[in-house]
Amino acid sequence: MARRKIIAGNWKMNKTPSEAVALAVELKPLVANEDVDVVFCVPAIDIVLVAEAVKGSSIKVGAENMYFEESGAYTGEISPAMLVDAGVKYVILGHSERREYFGETNEDVNKKMLKAFEHNITPIMCCGETLEQREQGVTMDFIRQQVKVGFQNVTADQAKTAVIAYEPIWAIGTGKTATTAQAQEVCAGIRACIAEVYDEATADAIRIQYGGSVNAATAPELFAQPDIDGGLVGGASLKAEFGKIVNYK
Ligand code: 13P
Repeated sequence: MARRKIIAGNWKMNKTPSEAVALAVELKPLVANEDVDVVFCVPAIDIVLVAEAVKGSSIKVGAENMYFEESGAYTGEISPAMLVDAGVKYVILGHSERREYFGETNEDVNKKMLKAFEHNITPIMCCGETLEQREQGVTMDFIRQQVKVGFQNVTADQAKTAVIAYEPIWAIGTGKTATTAQAQEVCAGIRACIAEVYDEATADAIRIQYGGSVNAATAPELFAQPDIDGGLVGGASLKAEFGKIVNYK
């Protein structure tokens, strides 16, 4: 089955509302490509303005996080309904920075996954190993646990629509992209894990991105791999270079 590529920018904690609008307007013509899904995942405070700025294009807006309760006394958190009403279609869940600095566990990520599906927001669930884990030879064991717990109680029909981002922690923001072979190997391993948990049809449908220092030079070879269905791009998504990444062919 030919899976549609999905290339998402993760702006992380960058761009004030006015800066975000300027960047969205700058990137809008550069990322035009009807053959791929393009998503800008932006800080919560920028979502409404960026959604407005990209109107008239096929760019979708995503969030970088979301809470797993509907509403109530959770000071500082953002609910799924708030995101939907603001125009959000995708949400990054379980990014390694959230796991490391904000203590998010696989169980938290699972609760957020279930909530996202309930509200028809497509999750981009992140997974990935540390350098130490890679050197210890436990990369796939660790990632399989992240994926299996993250997808607990997610139905096959829901899983088919999900996106998984494989982001080796040692490749994030370091300028050190995983080799194409390393990235393909783990993405294939994640797909095999989904086939085990669900079935071949689900494994065939789910989209798996690579993330970690993706740039205009590395994107073409990475995105040509059979199990890599696009990318989750940090630093390079804040520049005109993102247009080259989206138009990698
Ligand atoms: P960089 O592309 O800056 O390495 O960031 C990757 C990332 O964490 C995307 O979510």
